[in-house]
Amino acid sequence: IEEPKTILVIFGATGDLAKRKLYPSIYNLYKKDMLSDNFAVVGLGRKPWTNEIIRENVQKSIQSEGNDEEKLNDFKDHFYYLPFDVTNKQSYHELDELLNQLDEQYQTEGNRIFYMAMAPEFFGTIASQLKSEGVTETKGYTRLVIEKPFGHNVSSAQQLNEEISAAFAEKDIYRIDHYLGKQMVQNIEVIRFGNAIFEPLWNNRYISNIQITSSETLGVEDRGGYYEKSGALRDMVQNHMLQMVALLAMDPPIKLDPDEIRSEKIKALRSIKNISTDEVQEHFVRGQYGPGLQNGNEVPGYLSENNIAPNSHTETFVAGKFMIENHRWVGVPFYIRTGKRMSVKSTKIIVQFKDLPMNIYYNKNKDELHPNLLTIHIQPDEGVSLVLNGKKQGPNGGSIPVQLDYNNNGESTVNTPEGYERLIYDCMKGDATNFTHWDEVELSWKLIDTISNAWEGNGNNLETYESGSMGPKGSDALLAKDGFKWWPIED
Ligand code: BG6
Repeated sequence: IEEPKTILVIFGATGDLAKRKLYPSIYNLYKKDMLSDNFAVVGLGRKPWTNEIIRENVQKSIQSEGNDEEKLNDFKDHFYYLPFDVTNKQSYHELDELLNQLDEQYQTEGNRIFYMAMAPEFFGTIASQLKSEGVTETKGYTRLVIEKPFGHNVSSAQQLNEEISAAFAEKDIYRIDHYLGKQMVQNIEVIRFGNAIFEPLWNNRYISNIQITSSETLGVEDRGGYYEKSGALRDMVQNHMLQMVALLAMDPPIKLDPDEIRSEKIKALRSIKNISTDEVQEHFVRGQYGPGLQNGNEVPGYLSENNIAPNSHTETFVAGKFMIENHRWVGVPFYIRTGKRMSVKSTKIIVQFKDLPMNIYYNKNKDELHPNLLTIHIQPDEGVSLVLNGKKQGPNGGSIPVQLDYNNNGESTVNTPEGYERLIYDCMKGDATNFTHWDEVELSWKLIDTISNAWEGNGNNLETYESGSMGPKGSDALLAKDGFKWWPIED
């Protein structure tokens, strides 16, 4: 594959995301020789930084990666900085000039990627000014990478989409959902469509329910301002959780082509049952963490964190049930749960298969047969495991659950820039498979709006849970009503 030639323009270059994820990811690509010398990075921000200062910051952000000095110095020299005012036309003219000059210098064939890693209120303004001031007019491609939040509800998302679509074609808009960059999220499709043994069972005849958990141990940290407006529903469910639902529920695409995959995911999202306000109370549970113990340390509750309203009704936990109404899935609940300050940092998908029609072992030894469970371990461990029943050792026989494990090399992947590395590289290659299409965003906001509208201003159904626990009682009750329970994920 030819190495990408491009200039990456980062809006928000002095920010946290750039330092924590983007610089290390770009460096990793460089280190692995996946970037040719025909690339440059232009950082933009309000701070009066210089080329020197951004280079120092880039160096600091990747220091821990165990690097060779010479490579690092070469890498740093690809970085440039321009103080930028997003509302001032003059800034765009200066940017265009710099990009033209760097294009000559690095032979990037006029290719430009604009990466929005900053406050979302400016996404629309930036996109339209890039166009009106001619920065998107080049002989190469111009692509827009856009971070979440993509709107706050369906109407604000539509408005943002109109603004950016006026400047960029849908095929050139790369909406980031960093979960789609995770190795094991990408593996869902391979497990499903690359194995003869799962797909025939992947339906309501054999699967009883699917449980997707993404739990975090951290609290809201210093993001109170953002989080108060978002809550766990918008922060995690609208994007990451629903994307995993779509990947699990979709039909096989006819080929591995971004459009084919997207259209299957869209179909799956379209099949999720729309529910009434009453059903929201029945199908969704929300919680907020109170004080508690985490790894033996006392931690404060949400209401005592910085920048949180003392009577805040923002949820830090959501558990819910999505029902998919199509031939494949009718009757199979897709349960999701996500929250902050829970007992473990873990993302797992557990597929529970239906019980056998009868248990011939029960009569003999009173041994219950364990349901077959397929677990996809997304993080921190990566792998797949399958719980089967085997023969109990010893003369009396009987059955006992045994586990087959496939471990993706035992690497722990929390907090690595890996997902970003893959996504940035995909964007440079022009592969939009692991980015979210507008139709997916719109459909998921519609589902979320129904839930948030039912919750709006109503704190009564917000349950407090202890920090360091697995969420409020209502979360267990949600499954218990259907005769199920959350399988443990703390291994
Ligand atoms: C982000 C959310 O999208 O995902 C954060 O805004 C959350 O609140 C994070 O902590 C979780 O991502 P990961 O990769 O650590 O599971």
